[in-house]
Amino acid sequence: MRSHYCGHLNESHIDEEVTLCGWVHRRRDHGGVIFIDLRDREGISQVVFDPDAEESFALAETVRSEFVLQVKGRVRRRPEGTENPDMATGQVEILGKELVIFNRAETPPFQLDIADDEVAEEHRLRYRYVDLRRPAMLQRLRLRSEITRTLREFLDDRGFLDMETPMLTKATPEGARDYLVPSRTHPGHFFALPQSPQLFKQLLMMSGMDRYYQIVRCFRDEDLRADRQPEFTQLDIEASFMDEDELMGLMEDMMRELFAKTLEVALPKPFPRMSHAEAMRRFGSDKPDLRIPLELVDVEDLMAGVEFKVFAGPANDPEGRVAALRLPRGGELTRKEIDDYTKYVGIYGAKGLAYIKVNEVARGRDGLQSPILKFLPDEAIDGILSRTGAEDGDLIFFGADKASVVNEALGALRVRLGHDRELVERGWRPLWVVDFPMFEHEPKAGRWTALHHPFTAPREEDIDRLESDPGECLSRAYDMVLNGTEVGGGSQRIYREEVQKQVFRLLGIDEEEARDKFGFLLDALKYGCPPHGGIAFGLDRLVMLMTGASSIREVMAFPKTQTAACLLTQAPSTVKGEQLRELGIRLRQAKTEEGGKGA
Ligand code: AMO
Ligand code: AMP
Repeated sequence: MRSHYCGHLNESHIDEEVTLCGWVHRRRDHGGVIFIDLRDREGISQVVFDPDAEESFALAETVRSEFVLQVKGRVRRRPEGTENPDMATGQVEILGKELVIFNRAETPPFQLDIADDEVAEEHRLRYRYVDLRRPAMLQRLRLRSEITRTLREFLDDRGFLDMETPMLTKATPEGARDYLVPSRTHPGHFFALPQSPQLFKQLLMMSGMDRYYQIVRCFRDEDLRADRQPEFTQLDIEASFMDEDELMGLMEDMMRELFAKTLEVALPKPFPRMSHAEAMRRFGSDKPDLRIPLELVDVEDLMAGVEFKVFAGPANDPEGRVAALRLPRGGELTRKEIDDYTKYVGIYGAKGLAYIKVNEVARGRDGLQSPILKFLPDEAIDGILSRTGAEDGDLIFFGADKASVVNEALGALRVRLGHDRELVERGWRPLWVVDFPMFEHEPKAGRWTALHHPFTAPREEDIDRLESDPGECLSRAYDMVLNGTEVGGGSQRIYREEVQKQVFRLLGIDEEEARDKFGFLLDALKYGCPPHGGIAFGLDRLVMLMTGASSIREVMAFPKTQTAACLLTQAPSTVKGEQLRELGIRLRQAKTEEGGKGA
């Protein structure tokens, strides 16, 4: 049906007869001559119809934006002075001879030459097939395809086998709610859609497959954000007889190759590594954005004896933290800006945001300005100034609370200040975060939970104190962080039944529940399980970063909204009562298509 893509024509095609197919990007009448910019995936060509082409000319007069056409004609050089250097095909045009209108189109719901944020996102999602015609969307999805191809090639070349795992399965705990699918053949029973292929990939290692990968959809019913979708794609990887250093090294190589090939960017070799504890202490985050040159500084030892209760309390609480965050030239902040930041940290549970304005360091106390100065002795003030490296014109913020609140609040403030004050350095700053705690204590529930997932191995030296000292045990997990986003996470796994049972026990999963939920895994561990480990990358997040997109929805063809709905297909939707009956389901509040009672 066509001889060339619209976007591929150039001077080498002059005098050739060509057939193009595509959409009408624009049509202009110019004193008896009609110009049609015809667009396809590869770009745009200008087609000219003059009245000599009688029938086609008449037809050309009727076309409108987004009509789908076939055009036959001859390529010629554009007349002098009408070349368009901004277009790849701008030196040539097609003198149209024949025209077929495959299809007419209604006026599009929005212009195609708009930026992402010029139309409401709901509108774009509802008419996604039009939105995807915009060059920005096309470019991102094209890069996504290039990224997956490059990743596949890398892994194929190194002996990783691409294997599929079930979508209708049993819950795999990754910390979110499951999407459930009712079984018709087993009334009252449900499949869960996988939150990840975690257990299957481990079983593949126990099957001797040695090296596995899959580009796989995962489903998690959790609160959505810019970098979270209910269904998203992982590059999922697992390998046997490969320890963490070997695996991390290989994954770095993969990232370096990916960035070099697709973006012509050289990532550092090796990637720096930082312990979880250091990341929390210096950045208040387990995924620090190293492009932002601001750091948290501990000051609780200086505050333990002060009369200011807000600081002294947490300073004397073993679970508390008092930290300072110096903002260079922060003295410029207005009262209103400081109030806004105080509100902002409130979102993370901070009860306030104390600060000191540093006018003149040399004058000590007299060179400072702050409502809390009167509560602080000279030693504390001197300590703060020297420890934060304060300079004239700076502002020092403080957080004092449970360590978790201070970390979240000041960690988020650090990132926000970095962006607001344009302190974010350019470039790519990958980082491995390692030495995660095995368990996290949930005071409300009074129990321990796995920080990663319950199949992550503890460090060898911690196995003996798992039950006596769970809070101190570190795991063999690793996260890959890129510019403040967690792009991947993984671990070496437990491969001995005894250790797995011990971890289940600690997590409050008793023998019966362990059997019920993970009996197949415990059984498999008895039949010869190799040491193994792996990692999964959030492909959408990676593509988001690599394309500079503002959310992962911009790099998915058909994403869901913040409330986990598809505006295009109107999913989820109600179903017929009959369908529910077949599944043995009765709704508590009947709301089916039949309107009346569910079943
Ligand atoms: P984890 O839960 O850390 O690990 O997930 C791996 C990576 O997947 C991405 N990700 C998401 N992306 C978009 N939307 C979401 N809702 C979402 N949730 C997670 C993140 C994350 O780093 N089975 C383990 C991996 C392993 O141990 O091998 C797992 O799923 O980028
Ligand atoms: P107050 O004594 O409550 O008026 O607080 C004095 C200053 O300390 C104000 O600037 C508050 O914003 C700040 N502040 C209060 N609670 C905290 C906290 N938990 N962490 C940091 N600053 C706080």
